[in-house]
Amino acid sequence: MSSDARTGAAPLPTGPLSQIDYSERIPNNVGLNEDRRLQRALEGWQPKFLDWWKQLGPALPTKDVYLRTAIAVGRDGWAHFAHVPMEEYRWGIFLAERNPERVVSFGKHKGEPAWQEVPGEHRADLLRLIVVQGDTEPASVEQQRILGNTAPSIYDLRNLFQVNVEEGRHLWAMVYLLHAFFGREGREEAEQLLKRNSGNADAPRILGAFNEETTDWLQFFMFTYFTDRDGKYQLGTLKESAFDPLARTCEFMLKEEAHHMFVGTTGVQRMVERTAQVMKEHQTKDIFPYGAIPLDVIQKYLNFQFAVSMDLFGSEQSTNAGNYYTSGVKGRWMESRRKDDHVLLEATREMNYVADGEIRTRTVPMLSALNLDLRDEYVADCTHGVRRWNRAFEEAGLEDRLILPHEGFNRKVGVYAGHHVSPAGEVLDDEAWAARAGDWLPSAEDRQAVAALMIPEYEYGKFASWIAPPRTGINEQPVEFDYVHLAEEGLL
Ligand SMILES: [Fe+2]
Ligand SMILES: [Fe+2]
Repeated sequence: MSSDARTGAAPLPTGPLSQIDYSERIPNNVGLNEDRRLQRALEGWQPKFLDWWKQLGPALPTKDVYLRTAIAVGRDGWAHFAHVPMEEYRWGIFLAERNPERVVSFGKHKGEPAWQEVPGEHRADLLRLIVVQGDTEPASVEQQRILGNTAPSIYDLRNLFQVNVEEGRHLWAMVYLLHAFFGREGREEAEQLLKRNSGNADAPRILGAFNEETTDWLQFFMFTYFTDRDGKYQLGTLKESAFDPLARTCEFMLKEEAHHMFVGTTGVQRMVERTAQVMKEHQTKDIFPYGAIPLDVIQKYLNFQFAVSMDLFGSEQSTNAGNYYTSGVKGRWMESRRKDDHVLLEATREMNYVADGEIRTRTVPMLSALNLDLRDEYVADCTHGVRRWNRAFEEAGLEDRLILPHEGFNRKVGVYAGHHVSPAGEVLDDEAWAARAGDWLPSAEDRQAVAALMIPEYEYGKFASWIAPPRTGINEQPVEFDYVHLAEEGLL
């Protein structure tokens, strides 16, 4: 069963467990109290993180939120649910269990024991990968800061905040690695992770998609579907890393990430369900007047978020990606399930490119095209989501469908950058593109019309007009459960 099906229920832990110590200032399962220097360094970073959370974390004042917290890093259940004031959330350092027999499964070090320390020759690459990954985590919290003000329900508000606190914890995960393994340079990078901010003209986040504004909940759901899913695939490659602490960190982050996938998949699905229902009821596509979001506007948001997320995979051909693989710092998605030599010196694959106004294909060394390999896995995954969403139209007896745009649509990175490609995959000249782009990407008017529907619904069990309620609540609680207590309730 796909991880998207997970609703956040927390079965009792049954697998091999690594208990988390909550008596410490920084909850952890890495024996932090045995390394005073590291502990002091991280305790020095902690107040800076909390300041950042206060300034750039969720803007809506709340009393407490029904959040899950990791209690043990086992194969199975690991979460505890309770109402907690968000600023008292126990962000900590949780690594998956260590397998003492683990060996490197790919590249030139294949078969050698996994690294417990950073080898000097791969230090710069590992530092870079950790910093780039770490930079995305707080960025999404910043991007989603104001969404609480317009939540379509208390249930959705809780899910937003759960994603936010976990992205904050993912930052902790990367900061731990920086502090524990990269000395002074790592500590400096950890400071910078709080100083760069999403959309900041002087000190922006490293990757483009993390500087885009998340204007409304339609975009938030598209973000958690498409952009968090990029994160899932990136973490999947780092989970294979020969550097064992990184692999173990990412393995546990992926468990948290499953909830973010769930929020995106079901968020879009519930929205589409309402859209199909209102279209059918009123026999029209123009459903803004009925308080729902027209399909063509959903499609435009989808197009936009898919394209910026595709850019996150980098250029199709990349010497760095090949070097990361050969040196063992970053593997492929599901490396151990691949049926090849895991060295790839002889392997080739096909790659699309644009020439003379058309898309052509050429054969390239596999090692040079590992970003493309990962992106293809991601696209296949995204195709499932779109198919699943379309069931709402099928069930309503409507002909309309959402589509996943062509890989070349609206791209700023890689072989398609500088070319115009329609969602159907035709290469267009500047004029043809300019004439049609408004049909494919959200206009200012589209965003305004969506914004006009974003009226908060804070009554327990009620939902905004543009989204269907979920079938079940979180952790087996009812849908109308008091997942969030707002500060305005006078309960402070
Ligand atoms: Fe994350
Ligand atoms: Fe995420």
